[in-house]
Amino acid sequence: VLESLKGVSRGRLHLAVASTVNYFAPRLLAIFQQRYPGIGLQLDVTNREQLVRMLYDNAVDLVLMGVPPTDMEVESEAFMENPLVVIAPPDHPLAHERAITPARLADEVFVMREPGSGTRQTMERFFTERGLTIRYGMQMTRNEAVKQAVRSGLGLSVVSMHTIELELETRRLVTLDVEGFPDRRQWYLVYRRGKRLSPAANAFREFVLTEAAVIAPPIFFEAGAKPSHESNPG
Ligand code: PGA
Repeated sequence: VLESLKGVSRGRLHLAVASTVNYFAPRLLAIFQQRYPGIGLQLDVTNREQLVRMLYDNAVDLVLMGVPPTDMEVESEAFMENPLVVIAPPDHPLAHERAITPARLADEVFVMREPGSGTRQTMERFFTERGLTIRYGMQMTRNEAVKQAVRSGLGLSVVSMHTIELELETRRLVTLDVEGFPDRRQWYLVYRRGKRLSPAANAFREFVLTEAAVIAPPIFFEAGAKPSHESNPG
């Protein structure tokens, strides 16, 4: 016990997270760091494809991601809900429609993340599972770029709710009320099966599994809804 406590107070922890997880990971790290000030933390932020490679190369202690690998022996533990939503600019004609069918979206152009993105993979699956084809618009490697593109009217997109909390709050983007959305996925803590976790990695794993969902839960906004001061005049 003494040995492992010593490990926790001194260790180093190398984490890699999906670009989408980056929207809440620093909040978790801030609290974890307060509790374990002696642990040196390194955070890499990248897309799913690179995260899978890092797991394969045994290059990191732990990975936080939305779509764990299926072709590799890994431990993956869900720790929080990851709702995916369809986003649009507030003045989009669909913004005030209710129960939009996925088929209706086949007429819309979609701003896409790059092919290595887990978000893109999930979005493509949603459409192909329903026999629908996506009309591919511009492709961008950053969630921030996708959000700006959608805001500028370049198309719709599907993103994790965690990436757009500020834009929803300030009404720069809205979520569309599409049947099947929010697509309620999960966030996962992932490491290679059989990997011996360091005391620092064990402490972080325990922390994420028990507390992440309390510290950084997704905030739900009613799809297409007007902010309360607009819908309640006077
Ligand atoms: P990504 O993140 O779209 O940046 O790959 C999401 C995920 O890991 O699923």
